[in-house]
Amino acid sequence: MSPLTLWPATASEQAARIDMLFTGLLVISGAILLLVAGLLLVLCARYRRGSAAPRGDLPDFIRRDVEIGWTAATLFLALFLFWWAGATQLRASDPPAGALEVHVVAKQWMWKTRYPNGAREINALHAPRGEAMRLMMTSQDVIHSFFVPAFRLKQDVLPGRFTEMWFRATKPGEYRLFCAEFCGTDHARMGGTVTVMEPEDFARWVAAQPQEEDLPGEGAALFTALGCSGCHAAASAVHAPVLAGVYGRMVHLADGRTVRADEAYLRDSILQPKRDVVVGYEPIMPSFDGLVDEADLQRLVAYLQSLRGEAAR
Ligand code: CUA
Repeated sequence: MSPLTLWPATASEQAARIDMLFTGLLVISGAILLLVAGLLLVLCARYRRGSAAPRGDLPDFIRRDVEIGWTAATLFLALFLFWWAGATQLRASDPPAGALEVHVVAKQWMWKTRYPNGAREINALHAPRGEAMRLMMTSQDVIHSFFVPAFRLKQDVLPGRFTEMWFRATKPGEYRLFCAEFCGTDHARMGGTVTVMEPEDFARWVAAQPQEEDLPGEGAALFTALGCSGCHAAASAVHAPVLAGVYGRMVHLADGRTVRADEAYLRDSILQPKRDVVVGYEPIMPSFDGLVDEADLQRLVAYLQSLRGEAAR
């Protein structure tokens, strides 16, 4: 960006519309500022102490017509700006059907992206030029905010729910990604790169990414990445069940039932840990509903199943 350029790079369809809105607001409010400040200065000079300017009541036409005039003008201007901003925002928030869907998971302090074919990245997003891309975003811990200045896009990313955002990139290149919500020690370093590629290049790139075949291995990585290993470890200060060998075992629940720890049980324990509390443990585990998708659940369960051998050792 040259120092003479007013705006950051523009690389998405809505960037131009948002810049126009911003410029419009700047020009209109600048004009109002000049008018009001100018009148103020003129009146200060004209009616300064000791000046000979005539004083007395304002003429009737000022008290009535002009007053009505500027009240109405301000009202219509405000309504016009409301409509303009609202229309721009609505257009920017409604993803077209068939948009390429990418999952984004934020955590202290990184961005994790996942493409429909299973390819994954950290602190990076690749997008095809000219095609709509929809981001389904959630956070594993605190509130973050996904901010790409070149796209003029910023969206809060919240734990426990999905927020979405879409864009159509217009110019190949590399653009900065920031976290725009203070989220802890390394907030300032929580960023990455958005790479916009020609559609053919993107298709080639995404197909060349490693596909996930090793479910237990992926699950083990998730187990660490999601923080499960922080509590479910023999050495952990938190009193949580050690999961090696849990698969297939009978589990005693606080409500008196005894169930087998099969796939469904493990899945429910991740999504609704407070429902089936295990005897002897506090119900302190948070739900991972919304933080892991079905594919992640499959991986986690596959990992837990793979721990059978370890327990037997
Ligand atoms: Cu994440 Cu700031």
